Amino acid sequence: MFRFYLAILLAGLSLPAVAETQVERGKYLAEIMTCNECHTPGALLGKPDKNNPLAGSEVGYEIPMLGIFYGANLTPDTETGIGSWTADQIVTAIRTGVRPDGRVLSAAMPWRSFAALTDKDAKAIAAYLKSLKPMSRKVPGPFGPSEKATSFYYGFVMPPKK
Ligand code: HEC
Repeated sequence: MFRFYLAILLAGLSLPAVAETQVERGKYLAEIMTCNECHTPGALLGKPDKNNPLAGSEVGYEIPMLGIFYGANLTPDTETGIGSWTADQIVTAIRTGVRPDGRVLSAAMPWRSFAALTDKDAKAIAAYLKSLKPMSRKVPGPFGPSEKATSFYYGFVMPPKK
């Protein structure tokens, strides 16, 4: 009898896990690839707004000689987010840095590190972004090298002259 129960228990343990959906896979990848760090409001200030994931950051990154760039609103809002982008356009931006309008994203967005994503994983991230609640929220900038930033940013400071 005991053996019988043991056999059932082991059979249960070896059942395949419930399949992960494409959106779940995308959410998981977005989390471990730290998209929230740079794209969720408040995250770089230590207080991520969990109700509005990936709705854009108020803290930018300075790239010397180029300007100051803020983590974009990645929700499907058509005015302030990427709601008008197709899934393929999102995949292209993440892997090659090229936006639908042809502008190449600055190095503030680590697309060079994301270039190695497989088609399957890149598409899963795009599907997850498309599943987010659209949030109307315009991020500041981008600001050119001679413009004044209107919100916080990580900047480069020259070391003092000896
Ligand atoms: C280290 C910070 C950082 C991380 C991590 C990061 N991003 Fe970005 N991302 C940025 C910044 C800054 C911009 C804006 C760059 C620019 O305008 O040149 C940006 C721009 C984008 C854009 C273009 C949006 C637009 O409207 O132009 C997409 C799409 C994007 N990121 C997706 C992602 C995804 C998906 C992840 C995670 C897999 C991610 N980013 C991780 C900082 C980051």
